[in-house]
Amino acid sequence: MAQTPTANDASPVLEVRDLQTHFFTRAGVVKAVDGVSFTVRRGKVLGLVGESGSGKTVTGFSILGLVDAPGRIAGGSILFHGQDLAKLSEEEMRQLRGNRIAMIFQDPMMTLNPVLRIDTQMIETVQAHAKVSREEARQRARDTLGMVGIPSPEERLKAYPHQFSGGMRQRVAIAIALLHRPELIVADEPTTALDVTIQAQILAEVQKLCAQTGTAMIWITHDLSVVAGLADDLAVMYAGRVVERGPVSETLDAPLHPYTAGLIGSVPSRNKRGEPLRQIPGMTPSLLNLPGGCAFRTRCPKAQEKCRQDPPFGELLPGREARCFFPYNVPAGEAAA
Ligand SMILES: Nc1ncnc2c1ncn2[C@@H]1O[C@H](COP(=O)(O)OP(=O)(O)OP(=O)(O)O)[C@@H](O)[C@H]1O
Ligand code: SF4
Ligand SMILES: [Mg+2]
Repeated sequence: MAQTPTANDASPVLEVRDLQTHFFTRAGVVKAVDGVSFTVRRGKVLGLVGESGSGKTVTGFSILGLVDAPGRIAGGSILFHGQDLAKLSEEEMRQLRGNRIAMIFQDPMMTLNPVLRIDTQMIETVQAHAKVSREEARQRARDTLGMVGIPSPEERLKAYPHQFSGGMRQRVAIAIALLHRPELIVADEPTTALDVTIQAQILAEVQKLCAQTGTAMIWITHDLSVVAGLADDLAVMYAGRVVERGPVSETLDAPLHPYTAGLIGSVPSRNKRGEPLRQIPGMTPSLLNLPGGCAFRTRCPKAQEKCRQDPPFGELLPGREARCFFPYNVPAGEAAA
């Protein structure tokens, strides 16, 4: 694949290739991530979507080196500016975390210490990775709080986490993730507990910052409507695999994979007013008991005999990949599968 860096084709910050993260449990090997590939570019947002249990968090944790026993990365590579994170020692990963790569968790209290004032926490975070004076660190903390839309940052610095509303607390956690201008941020459903308007507002602010600073971001969510207007690319996961990947608007306008089409059908804003919400029939199958062949075939309206085989992940239209034998929206004769 020839790559000329242009405004639309920024250089890759992260390239995940055929990632396998498995949990070796008593009941068997749970392939939580089973051959996941995607690329995130400078200043771009990748929306990583899929139902509960599809492997989004485990993918994020794998990138950050946070997978604990009985889980481990069993194969593939995670190239960060070409360096394979899957091969780094724990100490090397710790150096990268919170510095060049940051994570925003669903629960801001994973980041915040309840007994310390915000200024103390932020100054410590800055000084852990940068040789700056306390005053400089404080200034950086105040500027970053302002950047994520916290009013009167100077006064708010003196507060404790419990003195903030849920939305403001999550903004503080996001500000901490942004403190070092990381090159990559993995945000794992950081706004799902919040009101939809506030979610969209926070995501819009973070996206603007990423575009300005060149930070690449993975925004994990089970809610397509959250990333619809704000992500650049979309990767849709089902049962530990990426089943579709492509630019967000094209993917939402004309999905290739029946699972993506089903997810879009269940996004309220894309349904006509008054129409009942369409649900994808059936349940996500247990990873220990996946149907052979295409894992989606027990729920797929287009399933045929051939789907008992494993569909390859391939480029079905320019810049658009999917794992399906009978995709939607591919003119006859054009499907590469
Ligand atoms: N420690 C573990 N031991 C065994 N299985 C695990 C472990 N952690 C995660 N898994 C399995 O990995 C799969 C993927 O989980 P993951 O948390 O990544 O899903 P998710 O897409 O983030 O879902 P959600 O939307 O609910 O957050 C699940 O089936 C889960 O049971
Ligand atoms: S391969 Fe078959 S079962 Fe799987 S998504 Fe495509 S049509 Fe449906
Ligand atoms: Mg999750």
